[in-house]
Amino acid sequence: MGIVVCGSLNMDFVVSVKVLPAHGETVLGQNFQMIPGGKGANQACAAGRLISEGARVRMIGRIGHDVFGDHLKASLSAAGVDVSAVTQSRSQPTGVALIAVESSGQNTIVVASGANMDMPAADVEAMRRVFRGNTVALFQLESPLETVKAALALAREEGLTTILDPAPAQPLANDLLSQVDILTPNEVEALGLLGRTASRLTPREAAPIAEELRARGPRRVILKLGDQGCFASDGETAAHYPGFRVDAVDATAAGDTFNAGLAVGLSEGMSFADAIRMANAAAAISVMRRGAQSSAPSRAEVDALLG
Ligand code: RIB
Repeated sequence: MGIVVCGSLNMDFVVSVKVLPAHGETVLGQNFQMIPGGKGANQACAAGRLISEGARVRMIGRIGHDVFGDHLKASLSAAGVDVSAVTQSRSQPTGVALIAVESSGQNTIVVASGANMDMPAADVEAMRRVFRGNTVALFQLESPLETVKAALALAREEGLTTILDPAPAQPLANDLLSQVDILTPNEVEALGLLGRTASRLTPREAAPIAEELRARGPRRVILKLGDQGCFASDGETAAHYPGFRVDAVDATAAGDTFNAGLAVGLSEGMSFADAIRMANAAAAISVMRRGAQSSAPSRAEVDALLG
């Protein structure tokens, strides 16, 4: 029983700025830091910190033969994540992300994928033994699309609940989306998947968008609404789950931490609604701290916020 995360590992190069630069603008930043990141590894790290004793989290991904890769594996191991299925690329360096965070907590992220994109779909069958016997599988889109699609299908075949964070935003075909049990886009990703321009959504506006997305294949949709929490629909029940009010300093990896909380809740047999509340609480704590994996909360912190 446990969680498998299939996805990216990046070393994040993070600089704080007062205000994010406009096109063509140079701004002076402060506090350069290297922090373990990558959407996949962030989800694995946060799940490792949240999961109860006796259950485990496994990471599938690819790094380069370099010091960043070693550091990323060590960060996951320290969170209790099994990294035996993290392999090394023969030709590509470990992925890196250049991140600027402004004082409002909002950020911009540019990823150089490196080894994360050196994961051919032909390698997926070898993942079967990693998925086998587990309950929830987490995916994102910082790996080749064909690989994500094949791995989703394999996880389904092995009986796992599949959760896809469709980030970074990109068009997705219905045959991929129909391998997804729970799709968790933010507003930009949700509207992008429907071919519309990004805008902020109210929970009321999110309701029909969630249904349009469900019609494309996923069994359930959780539309993340930032500080408004999220809107979730499984076809029978549709509801808004308000976010926790906190002082945000850095939104980096909030979505990844949300997905980790959701996966941990579901893997422990919680109802869909309770798992979403746990996900909201984990994400709220993460935005009060700087960085990606450095911001993932412990289970005790999440339980305390949930009261
Ligand atoms: O979701 C945040 C993550 O996106 C960062 O850690 C960065 O590495 C990019 O993958």
